[in-house]
Amino acid sequence: MGYADFHRRSIEERDAFWAEQARLVDWQAPPRQVCDNSSPPFSKWFAGGTLNLCHNAVDRHVAAGRGDQRALIYVSTETDQEKIYTFSELQAEVQRMAAVLKSLGVGKGDRVLIYMPMIPEAAFAMLACVRIGAIHSVVFGGFASVSLASRIEDATPKVIVSADAGSRAGKVMAYKPLLDEAIRLSKHKPGSVLLVDRGLAPMERTGGRDHDYAPLREQHLEAQVPCEWVDAAHPSYILYTSGTTGRPKGVQRDTGGYAVALASSMKDIFLGKAGETYFSTSDIGWVVGHSYIVYGPLIAGMATIMYEGLPIRPDAGIWWSLVEKYQVTSMFSAPTAVRVLKKQDPAFLKKYDLSSLRALFLAGEPLDEPTAQWIADGLGRPIIDNYWQTETGWPILSICNGVEPAPSKFGSPGKAVYGYSVKLFDENTGEELTGAGKKGVVAIEGPLPPGCMQTVWGDDERFVNTYWKSIPNRLVYSTFDWGIRDEDGYFFILGRTDDVINVAGHRLGTREIEESISSHPNVAEVAVVGVADSLKGQVAMAFAVAKDASGLTDEAAKLRLEGEVMKLVEQQLGAVARPARVRFVTALPKTRSGKLLRRAIQAVCEGRDAGDLTTIEDPSALQQIRDMVQ
Ligand code: PRX
Repeated sequence: MGYADFHRRSIEERDAFWAEQARLVDWQAPPRQVCDNSSPPFSKWFAGGTLNLCHNAVDRHVAAGRGDQRALIYVSTETDQEKIYTFSELQAEVQRMAAVLKSLGVGKGDRVLIYMPMIPEAAFAMLACVRIGAIHSVVFGGFASVSLASRIEDATPKVIVSADAGSRAGKVMAYKPLLDEAIRLSKHKPGSVLLVDRGLAPMERTGGRDHDYAPLREQHLEAQVPCEWVDAAHPSYILYTSGTTGRPKGVQRDTGGYAVALASSMKDIFLGKAGETYFSTSDIGWVVGHSYIVYGPLIAGMATIMYEGLPIRPDAGIWWSLVEKYQVTSMFSAPTAVRVLKKQDPAFLKKYDLSSLRALFLAGEPLDEPTAQWIADGLGRPIIDNYWQTETGWPILSICNGVEPAPSKFGSPGKAVYGYSVKLFDENTGEELTGAGKKGVVAIEGPLPPGCMQTVWGDDERFVNTYWKSIPNRLVYSTFDWGIRDEDGYFFILGRTDDVINVAGHRLGTREIEESISSHPNVAEVAVVGVADSLKGQVAMAFAVAKDASGLTDEAAKLRLEGEVMKLVEQQLGAVARPARVRFVTALPKTRSGKLLRRAIQAVCEGRDAGDLTTIEDPSALQQIRDMVQ
């Protein structure tokens, strides 16, 4: 079947289509109904079916006699470790972790927050949670105490699993003090904290609350913890992501739809087969890590490489050496990583035998043509862009080569993936834009396909209002991205419609950064915008007005205050959120009704025309910024 027919069937004969895909996973009880869309925009996939994500990722492969095959390949160039777990060994480790979590009182439906560096125990913890029906919420290790505290407060975990430290470029980053501070800040307190001690940083333990994992694991070496069969709609995890407001949203994922979507995407998009090896360079703290380091490859019965370290240490050949060594067949990374490699000697791309590699998949931010061309030429392998979001859990746009090989077009992540009815709408009128070459908001008609978010954790109303009511007169899911479609159905993504920025593939809310900066005692107000950057895609740029500017008489004084503010953001949110610059101005450009003109600031920073300024209150405020950045 050609791809056009395949896609059409996925929409027009939705239930028959997804019933077939559902056979890719093991069910304890088969679903009674494929898609229950009786109360849109909420939809329930595979209602009546029961299954377990961990069973599908681990146990079923052991049961099929593949227990001795590789499942998890751990490589750390930070601690010089390389460790391979077979499916049987992974099953044993997951059961140990599950037994320990149970001993700390974790049961079905309880939340477990995972704040971990890239170590195998992080994957064990995720799999252990879904094994016993607990709901994990992984928080990216690069986030600091204030970000972490808001997530603890929202997810109200019974247990937090963490570690002494991560490591970046050989520098130890202690986690425990940040975690202690986050728990202090949070109104919700976890019952227990489970700690993996890597021996990298000293840890202070709080009696009665903190437990070391190693001795508890020893007590459960032979643990047999059966998989808890859960309803297809049972939440598997919550993953927080940024939006327009400062408060991060907990994206809630189901179990059945997610398992089916991942299994299907591994086959039709990522070209993965059982027994082969998948290498995603992401982090478990992001959605790509959830879907394509942990669950997707394992569900497909593949070995997955979990890599802790930089792409250029010990040298820029490290990733390719792993491809050769482990015969990686599919690799997944982000454009920023490729741009980092592009600054290194291109000979590294040719140094290793990459003949096992079917394709390099890139996602998370726009893939610019020079970067795509450089890596395509250097590797001599196909480069496949794909576009999606934390909310969707798997690609919205891509080339589905597993269905029918199709050419890629530079600058385009491809066509609508099966299951997704992707449309463009006029943001003001809600009119559907059908012809080629028209710019509109990229939206998805409900029901969202399997695997996408069920709701915002604990806030159905926010789910409906945020995602489904932003396009006038329509009940469609907004991606908050601008897009355009060509005559062949290929989409081009043109940036966000909201205040989300994308720094090196990391999704950040400018409002969160503004809130953090505003907490500095000498900041009266601030605007943060994303500005195009040749390496990171975008960087955050802050313009602030001081409460007391009397001391800001020279550049040195301004730089001192800028340094203080940057340090504050780093302490509160983490280094990922630190703006590139914090510049002090006497006023911010606003409309007469007092709304910050963020778009105009962004345009000026990027050297573009500031657009319609008829409502600006004080044009000199914008001129000040223009003078500053020129
Ligand atoms: O703006 C789009 C951009 O990243 C956003 C989603 O980020 P996140 O939730 O972190 O999920 C990343 C999953 C890969 C999108 O709304 N984005 C993601 N992929 C692409 C992209 N922009 C352009 N091209 C892409 N391939």
